[in-house]
Amino acid sequence: MRRFILFCGWVLLSACGVPPNSESGFPGVEGARLFKAKGCVTCHTIGEGVKVGPDLRGLFARRDEAWVRRYISDPGAMFESDPTAKALKEKYKVAMPKMMISASEMDQLIAYLQKATAASNP
Ligand code: HEC
Repeated sequence: MRRFILFCGWVLLSACGVPPNSESGFPGVEGARLFKAKGCVTCHTIGEGVKVGPDLRGLFARRDEAWVRRYISDPGAMFESDPTAKALKEKYKVAMPKMMISASEMDQLIAYLQKATAASNP
């Protein structure tokens, strides 16, 4: 019975607690959706090898978060000034386009990528 009451409470909470606007949903979940919806999957895999761009597995082991944020928000701006971005572009031949990610979308993408690209995650 106690379990049942707890369960009802949980159902109620989740029904009222989750706003219809998915922007404020769980960052990782929304980030995963954005990773597909924004077309990142056209060029990137996580752990399935190089596509048009690099496999993002282990991303945060090789780049720090500030770099990743700057890069995703405007890769083109970094090809000139940042040696890492320049080297990547030379290696992959294609320049990653500017993806038009808002600040809140960026937070969600980063939250997702931090989990999904961790090297211990298969
Ligand atoms: C049209 C193909 C394309 C799309 C779409 C794309 N990328 Fe990229 N991305 C690349 C390429 C190619 C590189 C390698 C650097 C270069 O040549 O620009 C790259 C590099 C990166 C890097 C740096 C990887 C590293 O090893 O340091 C990150 C992070 C990244 N992309 C994330 C994203 C995210 C997130 C999205 C979606 C919002 C996205 N990319 C969409 C092609 C793409």
